[in-house]
Amino acid sequence: MVIDHPHEKFILQVYDLLYGSQISEQNLEMVAGMNLEEGSFAIMDESLRNYQLAFLKPVLTVGKNSKTCKKLPAFFSQVREISREDLSFITTPSTPFYLGQLRSGSKELDFDIFLPGKEVFSHHVLIPASTGKGKSNLMSCILWDVAGKEYAGMLVLDPHDEYYGRNGKGLKDHPRKDKIRYYTPVNPPPGASSLKINISKIKPEHFQGAISLSDPQRQCLYVYHKKFGENWIYHLLNEEKIQNVQFHEDTIAVVKRKLISLLGLDFHDGQLSAQGIFDTIAGESTINDICRELEQGKIVIIDTSYFSGAIEILIGSIITTEIFERYKFYKKQGQLDDRPVISIVLEEAPRVLGTKVLEQGSNIFESIAREGRKFKVGLIAITQLPSEIPKNILANINTKIILGIEMNSERQAVIESSPQDLSQDNRTIASLDIGEALVTSTFTKFAVPVKIPLFQEFVKQQKNETVQRSYVGFQ
Ligand SMILES: Nc1ncnc2c1ncn2[C@@H]1O[C@H](COP(=O)(O)OP(=O)(O)O)[C@@H](O)[C@H]1O
Ligand SMILES: [Mg+2]
Repeated sequence: MVIDHPHEKFILQVYDLLYGSQISEQNLEMVAGMNLEEGSFAIMDESLRNYQLAFLKPVLTVGKNSKTCKKLPAFFSQVREISREDLSFITTPSTPFYLGQLRSGSKELDFDIFLPGKEVFSHHVLIPASTGKGKSNLMSCILWDVAGKEYAGMLVLDPHDEYYGRNGKGLKDHPRKDKIRYYTPVNPPPGASSLKINISKIKPEHFQGAISLSDPQRQCLYVYHKKFGENWIYHLLNEEKIQNVQFHEDTIAVVKRKLISLLGLDFHDGQLSAQGIFDTIAGESTINDICRELEQGKIVIIDTSYFSGAIEILIGSIITTEIFERYKFYKKQGQLDDRPVISIVLEEAPRVLGTKVLEQGSNIFESIAREGRKFKVGLIAITQLPSEIPKNILANINTKIILGIEMNSERQAVIESSPQDLSQDNRTIASLDIGEALVTSTFTKFAVPVKIPLFQEFVKQQKNETVQRSYVGFQ
């Protein structure tokens, strides 16, 4: 809602609705009761005596510039509905990404909301919502929008194989096909690549978060890697002795078993062979290729739908570690400014950022959550259970695109860690319909209600716009 004052405007948000009446509670109950028992009793001047109360909180004052509201509007001010013109103070940022249209209740206003992509992506994004509220749809829209721009590269670990659109609409239909890369282990369609990773690229730290290892087991991996370098897995499986270092037989046996089953390896008579996506011969350049494509601002989708969660995380760790190392190096060299932001999309983020997982040791995703923004590497964490992510990490995620959340405990976790004060918005969040979002971010002045478009329609509309635009150019 808006209140107009001579030199400024107040923008207010409705956070609750209640009944109000001039008639006392007791009398209202009596009238209702009499009506039930005897029939037709009515209240005189009903519409004057009974009404609805809307509770508003001021979010902004808009004068020459807009500020967080620190005062009250005058008594008995007129309140009116917000319109498009009231929002002219919102300007499009320099590296925008499109989120959707501004929403007032369930009504869409014809006003586009853009967020500053570079900043938002490097300072992490959280997308919390119950199932079916539109997380994947939102992610598809974001990827589609970013694919048309140059400032960000995105790594998508896709456990449901839903973003590329193998059968159906998806990112493969984007007009800038060259910006979309798709890696899949099975029958890559034309233009896509087969996902093979050479086992020499695996390092002990990649296993953090993917499988649980005891301290001796972890040390065993590190010692073999230190001693044998790239060929460490072979030498470990071959149980070669290392001078001055002794591991218990059981430790070696367990480590061997874990490696063989996780990586899908075969080891017989000193011969190592592989069936899964990890290969002894092929896949030397896969990680390099992916990192190069990310640095070119492309969207790299990894189809992990065929793998167990542990392998998905292992693959994610390998690529993420490599790109993070590279960006750390660029920062040291002072070359970071020329590079696009890298964003890593994680479905079911508590698998790697959950309190329980992190108790067993840190992993690359946690490091990025803590310090990635310094190196222009960020996370997009998608989850139904934000409460499983520790508070200090949630607080480090500076943009939250909240879709409908049914469970109160999950809402609380998000509300407590949001950049703007949402303490009164519990009911608003509970009543968000599919595709309706509340965006709270250090990069917006207030928590913005947004309607996310449906992906199929978003794509159609964007195509029309490009056609129109190129036609105008042609004339
Ligand atoms: N912004 C939206 N507008 C309209 N319908 C939507 C929107 N987002 C999602 N839906 C509908 O809801 C369904 C579930 O959405 P999805 O993104 O798969 O949810 P989630 O990933 O959260 O489980 C979609 O198939 C689509 O029909
Ligand atoms: Mg989904």
